[in-house]
Amino acid sequence: MIDLRSDTVTQPTDAMRHAMANAPVGDDVYGEDPTINELEETAAKVFGREAAIFVPTGSMGNQIALKLHTQPGQEVLCEARSHVMDWEMGMAAMFSGCALRTVAGDRGVLRWEHIAPMLSTGGLYYKPATGLVWLENTHNMAGGTVTSPTDMAEVITNAHAARIPVHLDGARIFNAATALGTDVATLTKGFDTVNFCLSKGLCAPVGSMLVGTRDAVRKARSIRKALGGGMRQAGILAAAGLIALTDMPARLQQDHDNASLLGQLLGKSPNIKPDIPQTNILFFTVQTDAPTFVARMKEHGILSSAIGIHSIRLVTHRDVSADQCEHAANVISNLSA
Ligand SMILES: Cc1ncc(COP(=O)(O)O)c(C=O)c1O
Repeated sequence: MIDLRSDTVTQPTDAMRHAMANAPVGDDVYGEDPTINELEETAAKVFGREAAIFVPTGSMGNQIALKLHTQPGQEVLCEARSHVMDWEMGMAAMFSGCALRTVAGDRGVLRWEHIAPMLSTGGLYYKPATGLVWLENTHNMAGGTVTSPTDMAEVITNAHAARIPVHLDGARIFNAATALGTDVATLTKGFDTVNFCLSKGLCAPVGSMLVGTRDAVRKARSIRKALGGGMRQAGILAAAGLIALTDMPARLQQDHDNASLLGQLLGKSPNIKPDIPQTNILFFTVQTDAPTFVARMKEHGILSSAIGIHSIRLVTHRDVSADQCEHAANVISNLSA
């Protein structure tokens, strides 16, 4: 099988498995796991922040941030197809008592011009106030699209002027940094908190990080515990996370190149319309119904995801080579003929 469903399917590398087997560990709820402490210090340094906290999933990191910045009854302003809206089980309401107010961006890119008209800054006592502005970079369900540093800075400056914090769901922020040729500290400057995943293209088996001020991370520890995320000798996982954070970002360009290759090859088929991928996610449309097409791809050894009536998502990652992408493109082209 050539598995192009997601970069979450990546296997831990041999170096990760070795580091996991040999990691010094302790009880992290007591703050005594040396490997987790090292991972958190390293993440804070890489992102140019005061502190960071290790969490089991990106969803938990996002929900901790949401709780951290909001009060029950407030709204969180986010993009219409953002992960927090589509895939986090309504937890904004369940855990933080907040509603999500969605705004359709431009291929997932939310600019201040989209946000400004939707903002509620408390002037009307009978209208829920905006408690948090939420960006996602890269944007998963818009096809791995990248929001530019200029667009993000404009949102941050204006939201802060209105005294509203801004969180970044940067599950794939290293992909965005790779596409923009910049580093994550520069790219995420000004956000109140940033969540990023070690377990996607960076290949760690488990784990995400939330970075921010020392005070925010101190509060985040209590919220993580409330969610059942206080782990014990989880340095075994952090050992893989350290390799993901330090060694793996350098290889993401290969995934972007493979997504481009897939897009170029599929673009030659008259019945397929691929987007131009910006990172490691490629959307394409077929003339037939997408779930049926995905099932036929599976019969021919290619795994993918149907994401709309005619839309299919392919995600490149370390465990699919350029040759496998070429093969997958041939199979898909033949099936569409
Ligand atoms: C943009 C984005 N945010 C958050 C997450 C959540 O990560 P996890 O699956 O670790 O909860 C994902 C997962 O696919 C994602 O794509």
